Amino acid sequence: MPDPDDATASRIRTLVEDFEQVLFEFIRKRQINHSEYRVATDLIVDSIKTGEETLLFDVFFEAEATDVGNIGREGSPEAIEGPFYLPGAPMLTGPLHVMPQREDEKGEPLLFHGTVLGVDGEPLAGVEVDLWHADADGLYSNIHPNTPDFNLRGRFTTEDDGTFRVLSILPPPYEIPKDGPTGKVLRALGRHFFRPAHLHVKLRHPDHEEMTSQLYFKGGEYLDDDVAKGVRDGLVIALHTVEDPARIAENGLDRPYIDARYDFVLVPASAARKPT
Ligand code: DHB
Ligand code: FE
Repeated sequence: MPDPDDATASRIRTLVEDFEQVLFEFIRKRQINHSEYRVATDLIVDSIKTGEETLLFDVFFEAEATDVGNIGREGSPEAIEGPFYLPGAPMLTGPLHVMPQREDEKGEPLLFHGTVLGVDGEPLAGVEVDLWHADADGLYSNIHPNTPDFNLRGRFTTEDDGTFRVLSILPPPYEIPKDGPTGKVLRALGRHFFRPAHLHVKLRHPDHEEMTSQLYFKGGEYLDDDVAKGVRDGLVIALHTVEDPARIAENGLDRPYIDARYDFVLVPASAARKPT
Protein backbone atom coordinates (compact mmCIF):
# COMPACT_ATOMS: atom_id res chain seq x y z
CA MET A 1 0.00 0.00 0.00
CA PRO A 2 1.33 3.46 -0.81
CA ASP A 3 1.31 5.91 2.11
CA PRO A 4 -1.71 8.29 2.19
CA ASP A 5 0.23 11.15 0.59
CA ASP A 6 1.21 8.99 -2.35
CA ALA A 7 -2.35 7.76 -2.66
CA THR A 8 -3.68 11.33 -2.71
CA ALA A 9 -1.10 12.42 -5.27
CA SER A 10 -1.99 9.48 -7.46
CA ARG A 11 -5.73 10.20 -7.18
CA ILE A 12 -5.19 13.85 -8.11
CA ARG A 13 -3.13 12.83 -11.14
CA THR A 14 -5.76 10.35 -12.30
CA LEU A 15 -8.56 12.91 -11.96
CA VAL A 16 -6.78 15.86 -13.54
CA GLU A 17 -5.47 13.84 -16.47
CA ASP A 18 -8.88 12.28 -17.06
CA PHE A 19 -10.60 15.68 -16.87
CA GLU A 20 -8.04 17.10 -19.30
CA GLN A 21 -8.73 14.27 -21.73
CA VAL A 22 -12.52 14.65 -21.43
CA LEU A 23 -12.21 18.38 -22.21
CA PHE A 24 -9.86 17.79 -25.17
CA GLU A 25 -12.41 15.39 -26.62
CA PHE A 26 -15.25 17.84 -25.97
CA ILE A 27 -13.37 20.72 -27.66
CA ARG A 28 -12.71 18.56 -30.73
CA LYS A 29 -16.18 17.06 -30.85
CA ARG A 30 -17.93 20.43 -30.64
CA GLN A 31 -15.29 22.31 -32.66
CA ILE A 32 -14.87 24.90 -29.95
CA ASN A 33 -12.74 27.78 -31.26
CA HIS A 34 -10.79 30.34 -29.27
CA SER A 35 -13.59 32.88 -28.87
CA GLU A 36 -16.03 30.24 -27.55
CA TYR A 37 -13.30 28.95 -25.26
CA ARG A 38 -12.85 32.50 -23.89
CA VAL A 39 -16.62 32.85 -23.29
CA ALA A 40 -16.38 29.79 -21.04
CA THR A 41 -13.34 30.98 -19.07
CA ASP A 42 -14.90 34.46 -18.72
CA LEU A 43 -18.02 32.85 -17.29
CA ILE A 44 -15.96 31.18 -14.58
CA VAL A 45 -14.04 34.41 -13.87
CA ASP A 46 -17.34 36.36 -13.68
CA SER A 47 -18.82 33.82 -11.31
CA ILE A 48 -15.85 34.36 -8.97
CA LYS A 49 -16.01 38.16 -9.26
CA THR A 50 -19.71 38.08 -8.30
CA GLY A 51 -19.26 35.45 -5.55
CA GLU A 52 -21.36 32.96 -7.52
CA GLU A 53 -18.79 30.29 -8.24
CA THR A 54 -20.29 27.80 -5.78
CA LEU A 55 -23.81 28.49 -7.04
CA LEU A 56 -22.73 28.01 -10.65
CA PHE A 57 -21.12 24.63 -9.99
CA ASP A 58 -23.66 23.40 -7.44
CA VAL A 59 -26.70 24.07 -9.58
CA PHE A 60 -25.26 21.95 -12.38
CA PHE A 61 -23.10 19.27 -10.79
CA GLU A 62 -23.43 18.85 -7.02
CA ALA A 63 -26.36 16.41 -7.15
CA GLU A 64 -24.37 14.06 -9.39
CA ALA A 65 -21.42 13.95 -6.97
CA THR A 66 -23.81 13.47 -4.04
CA ASP A 67 -25.44 10.49 -5.77
CA VAL A 68 -22.01 8.93 -6.27
CA GLY A 69 -21.30 9.42 -2.55
CA ASN A 70 -24.53 7.59 -1.68
CA ILE A 71 -23.62 4.45 -3.64
CA GLY A 72 -23.20 1.55 -1.24
CA ARG A 73 -23.54 3.85 1.75
CA GLU A 74 -25.58 2.61 4.69
CA GLY A 75 -27.57 5.17 6.63
CA SER A 76 -29.92 7.85 5.38
CA PRO A 77 -29.10 9.40 2.01
CA GLU A 78 -26.94 12.46 1.78
CA ALA A 79 -28.20 15.40 -0.29
CA ILE A 80 -26.74 18.52 -1.85
CA GLU A 81 -25.31 21.11 0.51
CA GLY A 82 -25.95 24.01 -1.89
CA PRO A 83 -23.96 27.23 -1.88
CA PHE A 84 -25.45 28.89 1.22
CA TYR A 85 -24.11 26.94 4.21
CA LEU A 86 -22.30 28.96 6.88
CA PRO A 87 -20.31 27.43 9.75
CA GLY A 88 -20.62 28.81 13.26
CA ALA A 89 -24.42 29.13 13.56
CA PRO A 90 -25.68 29.90 17.10
CA MET A 91 -26.00 26.97 19.55
CA LEU A 92 -29.63 26.71 20.69
CA THR A 93 -30.89 25.51 24.04
CA GLY A 94 -33.39 22.67 24.34
CA PRO A 95 -35.13 20.37 24.58
CA LEU A 96 -37.49 22.40 22.39
CA HIS A 97 -35.09 24.42 20.24
CA VAL A 98 -36.21 27.62 18.56
CA MET A 99 -34.43 28.77 15.42
CA PRO A 100 -33.02 32.32 15.48
CA GLN A 101 -35.70 34.48 13.87
CA ARG A 102 -37.11 37.98 13.74
CA GLU A 103 -39.76 38.91 16.30
CA ASP A 104 -42.35 39.00 13.50
CA GLU A 105 -40.84 36.30 11.28
CA LYS A 106 -43.20 35.64 8.38
CA GLY A 107 -44.37 32.13 7.56
CA GLU A 108 -46.29 29.22 9.04
CA PRO A 109 -44.80 27.77 12.23
CA LEU A 110 -42.99 24.48 11.63
CA LEU A 111 -42.09 21.83 14.19
CA PHE A 112 -39.32 19.66 12.75
CA HIS A 113 -38.52 16.64 14.87
CA GLY A 114 -37.19 13.11 14.72
CA THR A 115 -34.54 10.73 16.00
CA VAL A 116 -30.93 10.21 15.01
CA LEU A 117 -29.89 6.56 14.97
CA GLY A 118 -26.82 4.51 14.20
CA VAL A 119 -26.93 1.82 11.48
CA ASP A 120 -27.56 -0.71 14.29
CA GLY A 121 -30.84 1.10 15.08
CA GLU A 122 -29.58 2.45 18.42
CA PRO A 123 -30.51 6.08 19.14
CA LEU A 124 -27.55 8.47 19.19
CA ALA A 125 -27.31 11.11 21.93
CA GLY A 126 -25.25 14.27 21.54
CA VAL A 127 -25.41 14.49 17.76
CA GLU A 128 -24.94 18.08 16.63
CA VAL A 129 -27.69 19.08 14.21
CA ASP A 130 -26.82 22.15 12.11
CA LEU A 131 -30.00 23.42 10.40
CA TRP A 132 -30.38 26.24 7.89
CA HIS A 133 -33.07 27.34 5.46
CA ALA A 134 -34.62 30.26 3.58
CA ASP A 135 -37.16 32.67 5.10
CA ALA A 136 -40.74 33.11 3.85
CA ASP A 137 -39.46 35.38 1.08
CA GLY A 138 -36.98 32.74 -0.05
CA LEU A 139 -33.96 34.59 1.33
CA TYR A 140 -30.97 33.10 3.18
CA SER A 141 -29.43 35.15 5.99
CA ASN A 142 -25.86 36.41 5.47
CA ILE A 143 -26.25 35.75 1.74
CA HIS A 144 -29.14 37.91 0.64
CA PRO A 145 -29.20 41.55 1.80
CA ASN A 146 -31.54 42.84 4.53
CA THR A 147 -31.64 39.65 6.59
CA PRO A 148 -30.42 39.55 10.22
CA ASP A 149 -27.15 37.68 10.80
CA PHE A 150 -27.71 33.92 11.25
CA ASN A 151 -31.46 34.28 10.90
CA LEU A 152 -32.94 30.77 10.48
CA ARG A 153 -29.55 29.17 11.07
CA GLY A 154 -29.01 27.20 14.28
CA ARG A 155 -27.26 24.25 15.91
CA PHE A 156 -28.46 21.95 18.67
CA THR A 157 -27.76 18.45 19.98
CA THR A 158 -29.92 15.33 20.22
CA GLU A 159 -31.28 14.25 23.63
CA ASP A 160 -30.25 11.09 25.51
CA ASP A 161 -32.88 9.13 23.55
CA GLY A 162 -31.54 10.45 20.21
CA THR A 163 -34.52 12.73 19.61
CA PHE A 164 -34.57 16.36 18.56
CA ARG A 165 -37.31 19.01 18.24
CA VAL A 166 -36.93 22.43 16.67
CA LEU A 167 -39.37 25.21 15.93
CA SER A 168 -38.98 27.33 12.84
CA ILE A 169 -41.09 28.52 9.92
CA LEU A 170 -41.92 26.61 6.76
CA PRO A 171 -39.65 27.77 3.92
CA PRO A 172 -41.26 28.29 0.48
CA PRO A 173 -40.08 27.20 -2.96
CA TYR A 174 -37.70 29.90 -4.08
CA GLU A 175 -35.73 31.23 -7.01
CA ILE A 176 -31.97 30.99 -6.88
CA PRO A 177 -30.14 34.27 -7.66
CA LYS A 178 -30.80 34.93 -11.35
CA ASP A 179 -29.19 38.31 -12.07
CA GLY A 180 -25.60 37.07 -12.27
CA PRO A 181 -23.65 34.71 -14.52
CA THR A 182 -25.49 31.59 -13.30
CA GLY A 183 -28.80 33.19 -14.28
CA LYS A 184 -27.38 34.08 -17.68
CA VAL A 185 -26.53 30.45 -18.39
CA LEU A 186 -29.86 29.11 -17.15
CA ARG A 187 -31.75 31.71 -19.20
CA ALA A 188 -29.79 30.73 -22.30
CA LEU A 189 -30.84 27.12 -21.67
CA GLY A 190 -34.49 28.14 -21.27
CA ARG A 191 -34.59 26.86 -17.68
CA HIS A 192 -36.43 28.45 -14.76
CA PHE A 193 -34.72 29.36 -11.48
CA PHE A 194 -36.88 27.58 -8.89
CA ARG A 195 -36.00 25.05 -6.24
CA PRO A 196 -38.71 23.25 -4.25
CA ALA A 197 -39.08 24.26 -0.58
CA HIS A 198 -36.40 22.59 1.55
CA LEU A 199 -34.57 22.36 4.88
CA HIS A 200 -30.80 21.94 4.93
CA VAL A 201 -29.09 19.98 7.66
CA LYS A 202 -25.65 18.72 8.67
CA LEU A 203 -25.19 16.13 11.43
CA ARG A 204 -22.01 15.65 13.45
CA HIS A 205 -21.02 13.09 16.06
CA PRO A 206 -17.50 12.16 17.16
CA ASP A 207 -17.81 8.44 16.29
CA HIS A 208 -19.75 8.88 13.05
CA GLU A 209 -19.30 10.27 9.58
CA GLU A 210 -20.50 13.84 9.25
CA MET A 211 -23.46 13.92 6.89
CA THR A 212 -25.23 16.62 4.87
CA SER A 213 -28.86 16.24 3.95
CA GLN A 214 -31.75 18.23 2.62
CA LEU A 215 -35.45 17.54 3.10
CA TYR A 216 -38.32 18.41 0.77
CA PHE A 217 -42.07 18.41 1.39
CA LYS A 218 -44.59 16.03 -0.19
CA GLY A 219 -46.97 17.70 -2.63
CA GLY A 220 -44.80 20.81 -2.96
CA GLU A 221 -44.16 22.72 -6.17
CA TYR A 222 -41.03 22.02 -8.26
CA LEU A 223 -40.33 18.60 -6.70
CA ASP A 224 -40.20 17.18 -10.22
CA ASP A 225 -38.59 20.22 -11.78
CA ASP A 226 -35.84 21.42 -9.42
CA VAL A 227 -33.31 23.69 -11.13
CA ALA A 228 -30.57 22.01 -9.03
CA LYS A 229 -31.93 18.47 -9.69
CA GLY A 230 -31.49 17.66 -5.98
CA VAL A 231 -34.74 15.88 -5.05
CA ARG A 232 -34.58 12.13 -4.30
CA ASP A 233 -37.39 9.84 -3.06
CA GLY A 234 -36.05 9.23 0.43
CA LEU A 235 -35.73 12.95 1.09
CA VAL A 236 -39.38 13.98 0.62
CA ILE A 237 -41.31 14.12 3.91
CA ALA A 238 -45.01 14.54 4.72
CA LEU A 239 -46.34 17.66 6.42
CA HIS A 240 -49.28 17.56 8.87
CA THR A 241 -51.14 20.56 10.21
CA VAL A 242 -51.69 20.36 13.97
CA GLU A 243 -54.74 22.20 15.30
CA ASP A 244 -55.06 20.51 18.70
CA PRO A 245 -54.84 23.35 21.27
CA ALA A 246 -53.00 21.12 23.79
CA ARG A 247 -50.25 20.28 21.29
CA ILE A 248 -50.07 23.90 20.14
CA ALA A 249 -49.58 25.06 23.76
CA GLU A 250 -47.08 22.24 24.46
CA ASN A 251 -44.85 23.76 21.80
CA GLY A 252 -45.18 27.29 23.13
CA LEU A 253 -47.24 28.40 20.11
CA ASP A 254 -50.51 30.29 19.83
CA ARG A 255 -51.68 29.10 16.42
CA PRO A 256 -51.81 25.89 14.37
CA TYR A 257 -48.46 24.62 13.18
CA ILE A 258 -47.02 22.23 10.64
CA ASP A 259 -45.43 19.04 11.88
CA ALA A 260 -42.58 17.42 9.93
CA ARG A 261 -40.74 14.33 11.05
CA TYR A 262 -37.59 12.67 9.78
CA ASP A 263 -35.27 10.08 11.30
CA PHE A 264 -31.61 10.22 10.33
CA VAL A 265 -29.23 7.25 10.30
CA LEU A 266 -25.50 7.96 10.67
CA VAL A 267 -22.74 5.61 9.56
CA PRO A 268 -19.76 4.86 11.81
CA ALA A 269 -16.62 6.91 11.18
CA SER A 270 -14.69 3.84 10.06
CA ALA A 271 -17.21 3.02 7.32
CA ALA A 272 -16.16 5.78 4.91
CA ARG A 273 -16.10 4.44 1.34
CA LYS A 274 -12.83 5.01 -0.45
CA PRO A 275 -13.00 6.32 -4.01
CA THR A 276 -12.11 3.76 -6.65
C1 DHB B 1 -28.59 25.48 -4.80
C2 DHB B 1 -28.97 24.72 -3.73
C3 DHB B 1 -29.67 25.29 -2.69
O1 DHB B 1 -30.09 24.59 -1.62
C4 DHB B 1 -29.98 26.62 -2.70
O2 DHB B 1 -30.66 27.10 -1.66
C5 DHB B 1 -29.59 27.39 -3.79
C6 DHB B 1 -28.90 26.83 -4.83
C7 DHB B 1 -27.81 24.90 -5.89
O3 DHB B 1 -27.56 23.71 -5.86
O4 DHB B 1 -27.44 25.65 -6.79
FE1 FE C 1 -31.10 25.87 -0.22
